[in-house]
Amino acid sequence: MNASSRERVRVTEVGPRDGLQNERAIVPVAAKVEFIDRLSACGFPEVEATSFVSAKWVPQLGDAAEVFARVHRSSETLLSALVPNEQGLDAALAAGVDKIAVFVAASEAFSQRNTNGSIAQVLERVGHVVTRARRDALPVRGYISCTIRCPYDGPTEPARVREVAERLLALGATEIDLGDTIGAAEPSDIARLFDGLDGVLTPGRATLHLHDTHGRASACVERALELGVRSFDASVAGLGGCPYANGAPGNLATETLLSILTRAGFDTGVDTDAVVATAQWIRQQLAALRPSSS
Ligand code: HMG
Ligand code: MG
Repeated sequence: MNASSRERVRVTEVGPRDGLQNERAIVPVAAKVEFIDRLSACGFPEVEATSFVSAKWVPQLGDAAEVFARVHRSSETLLSALVPNEQGLDAALAAGVDKIAVFVAASEAFSQRNTNGSIAQVLERVGHVVTRARRDALPVRGYISCTIRCPYDGPTEPARVREVAERLLALGATEIDLGDTIGAAEPSDIARLFDGLDGVLTPGRATLHLHDTHGRASACVERALELGVRSFDASVAGLGGCPYANGAPGNLATETLLSILTRAGFDTGVDTDAVVATAQWIRQQLAALRPSSS
């Protein structure tokens, strides 16, 4: 079967943001720029390049403006960035991002720990961001974190996710991204999540953002594909995690996701060999930054 006759699944690469925010070492700007450029050359429709968050909270990405100023832009790949508030939006607009991502938790404890506010306060804060971004016709991804389980509050009721999704859509988010922040999901949880979203968000309109803490992300992708999900995030070399979520190591590895999708007969438009080479390259870069044990 040739690529044009296969159904397309959208893969968003989040390694430069979700991956590098969780590394102990601060990756130098030049390496970040090369990482993003290599990923753009792989053919991803979107690379989440960095975050315009407070450098006091995430020092690993405190160089977002400099990174954005130096990356090569391609008409094929959108470069997006996380934005928590209007201060971040100002910086993201000045940097010329193609798309922003706001983030709201479905659990109160994670909302406080990650964004220093209740869910209601964060929705109010991001409301101003989304309104302004949409006025500038910028696409807005609305992440919902802890959609399955919170590291502090335990299991999340699908009704909480539904409420946040409804609010984000009403604000004008152009995409809803459902995060399993600590990789807690079983395949049955994915079906339960979408049952809870019935009438608000269909699987075909959602993006799924899986972490792979317990090795179940691949099984969750397979279940999600059966349900009709056609957009996934992944991180090359399985880098990633949230510094404010205990027990949240790597994201679903992009290489693994691509192999599942290819085996299932989907087209992604992404060059798998180039992704594997980039995974090797970033592993070497990170290894060189880690203190040697001798
Ligand atoms: P705050 O401390 O309440 O903010 O943090 P504030 O407004 O009181 O400001 C405090 C200081 O931060 C001030 O500086 C501000 O200028 C500065 P000072 O006057 O003290 O020198 N500041 C900023 N600087 C640069 N850019 C900004 C910015 N905002 C304030 N945008 C805040 C509130 C939301 C800013 C903070 O909690 C924050 O930055 N949190 C981000 C945490 C984060 O990035 N977590 C990881 C990403 S989320 C994730 O990984 C989950 C996801 O992958 C999905 C999933 O897996 O489920 C997306
Ligand atoms: Mg994440």
